[in-house]
Amino acid sequence: MAHFLKETDFSREQVNEIFSLAHSFKKGRGRHTPPSLKGQSWAMIFSKSSTRTRVSFDVGINELGGHPLFLNKNDIQLGRSETVSDTAKVLSRFLHGLIVRTYAHSEIEELAAEGSIPVINALTDFLHPCQIYTDAFTLAERWGTEGNFLQSLKGKRLAYFGDTANNMANSWILGGAHFGMEIVLCGPESYKPGSEIDELLEKEGLPKNYVFTSDPKEAAKGADVLYTDTWVSMGQEAEAAEKIALMQPFGVTSELMALANEGAYFMHCLPAYEGKEVTKEVLDSPASIIFDEAENRLHVQKAIMAVLAQGLRA
Ligand code: CP
Ligand code: NVA
Repeated sequence: MAHFLKETDFSREQVNEIFSLAHSFKKGRGRHTPPSLKGQSWAMIFSKSSTRTRVSFDVGINELGGHPLFLNKNDIQLGRSETVSDTAKVLSRFLHGLIVRTYAHSEIEELAAEGSIPVINALTDFLHPCQIYTDAFTLAERWGTEGNFLQSLKGKRLAYFGDTANNMANSWILGGAHFGMEIVLCGPESYKPGSEIDELLEKEGLPKNYVFTSDPKEAAKGADVLYTDTWVSMGQEAEAAEKIALMQPFGVTSELMALANEGAYFMHCLPAYEGKEVTKEVLDSPASIIFDEAENRLHVQKAIMAVLAQGLRA
């Protein structure tokens, strides 16, 4: 059973196919979309808040002809300690796919291992692969040619500022290596990427494609994309004050953008906290492609579900 739990779960060839399909879904939206999920029910189990992920999956399942169910973890027995294994087995008897947003990455691995339907990672504390695929697609749309999306990302440099130990940073490390990009991580020394992501790179046979620096100017120079994320991820609220104080030097400003390559883009997975990880001026600037990023979640995730559903029928 194929799942999408991490960036490397699809080969580079499959990523190109997904991006081509996403491109055609985007062009044809509102006209004819093949009903890849016709007769199917896909559920979203969310343990954390969401705007983009929840709405784009709900709309996407609907546009592919399927039936979406939103399940807040606390409204089902999983939230009252029914085991992950029993939940996976039971839901596999009703549903055709599961989309899960949770804390521990091991929880989605267990759901995938114990159930018999595809599981999609809609964000864990460790990785956010739907976002990274969408971001890569958003860049390839600009730099690439149809049918050869990944080629256009090769050797491009993305500089990531702020919490370099969170799910988005980890996903850029793994996704960047898979897509052939160079990643520069810039944040406080105490938030350097952890060993878990290095071990995963090694396990996946990918090169260590990233460098770490605490000098924002050095990180911005030569970058094709400046990327940031909230300094306080969901579940880290208790550490907020301490983190915000530590992250102050790593906010993305127009001065930093000016050091990047000509035509460099600004990206943010959103939600953004203006005046913290990024200024309003940068968010509103022509270099900012944040709303294309948000929209593309729909097209890319539809393509991912269509590809996984094909496996169901095979
Ligand atoms: N970027 C992202 O995943 O946003 P949501 O938390 O709104 O889903
Ligand atoms: N790092 C953030 C990403 C939100 C989309 C979080 O986990 O809250």
